[in-house]
Amino acid sequence: MRLDRRQFMAGAAALAVAGGALVLSGNGDTPMPEAVDTARGAALYAENCASCHGADLEGQPDWRSPGPDGVMPAPPHDRTGHTWHHGDGMLFDYTKLGGAETLKRMGVTGVKSGMPGFGDSLTDAEIRAILAFIKSTWPERERELQRRRTLAEQMKGN
Ligand code: HEC
Repeated sequence: MRLDRRQFMAGAAALAVAGGALVLSGNGDTPMPEAVDTARGAALYAENCASCHGADLEGQPDWRSPGPDGVMPAPPHDRTGHTWHHGDGMLFDYTKLGGAETLKRMGVTGVKSGMPGFGDSLTDAEIRAILAFIKSTWPERERELQRRRTLAEQMKGN
């Protein structure tokens, strides 16, 4: 009797583990829509962003130091930059509204931003496709950290 119960518990635990794995894989990226988005995003990136952020997302030279005019150069969007430090909401706003407006809304003033806003030339869906492409170039660790940053951002109601 006791053995049966233990066997039952072991079986239940195994099921729970299997269930957890299923839920986890269900939460992962769905490959199809992302594949479609990233191809479109890559083309839009080349057209709209590569002139400053680099054809290979490498950013401008010496991007950590301001230029003579006090404006920061464009940072890389690959893993060597800090794009993955920011949640989806911030990245979206930065692209749509531009640096000056986004920083102003965050309460940061007195920064001369070299990042233009694309709200007039790109649709929201196009901006999301570009960001999806940028994210698709990051290794899993950076993608995971950025995903968590997005969740934290959403909990703050941003
Ligand atoms: C005219 C040059 C220029 C173009 C074109 C440009 N950017 Fe930027 N971008 C910058 C600069 C300069 C910064 C540095 C931050 C600042 O000065 O506000 C920046 C910063 C950013 C940031 C915030 C920093 C980061 O890495 O998280 C994002 C996101 C961004 N750009 C996305 C884009 C996207 C997407 C495009 C294309 C749709 C684009 N940029 C096109 C110049 C540009």
